[in-house]
Amino acid sequence: MAYTLPKLPYPYNALEPHLDAATMDIHHTKHHQTYVDKLNAALEKYPELQAQAVESLLKNLDTLPEAIRTPVRNHGGGHTNHTLFWTSLTPTQDLTPTSDLLQALHTAFGSFDQFKQQFSDAAATHFGSGWAWLALDASQTLKIYSLPNQDSPLSQGHQPLFGLDVWEHAYYLKYQNRRPDYIAAIWHCLNWPEIGKRFQAKV
Ligand SMILES: [Fe+2]
Repeated sequence: MAYTLPKLPYPYNALEPHLDAATMDIHHTKHHQTYVDKLNAALEKYPELQAQAVESLLKNLDTLPEAIRTPVRNHGGGHTNHTLFWTSLTPTQDLTPTSDLLQALHTAFGSFDQFKQQFSDAAATHFGSGWAWLALDASQTLKIYSLPNQDSPLSQGHQPLFGLDVWEHAYYLKYQNRRPDYIAAIWHCLNWPEIGKRFQAKV
């Protein structure tokens, strides 16, 4: 079974004014679709691998045939990272983390505001294309870090809870070079109930 582009759970203009409709449309129908298409092309000769969840391939990159390791890392990462991204966002603005996640963020980073600052700094200072991540490491500790390109925390043995796409394609139409403004806008759009469910499922 070929991988397919998931539908967005809201219209392209639903996150205005923070994320504009044109960016959301192109990001989903062009960029994400291209990752899906290239992942399928890379796995065309490996139907037994294509039958697996992409997350499983990313967790076990080292076991894949060398010829497809890099395409799966890049395009499989692009597919799963964007799938997680769309469902991390919601038109219901200014939600806050569920109590158990909020408590864990306090414990790990000092306060919710300090968490936001550290995450924003990771996203703002990432050089070039990549993602900032909130993830659980192998010992179920919350971590903030950035990874280049479409690398997935799954390939580090970590469970991603939320990732912020800082590729220019995610913000350039509206924000041009002002990546910090895009990062600031994202805090109004996060689907904390959904992110909280991911946290609950893994701790
Ligand atoms: Fe993207």
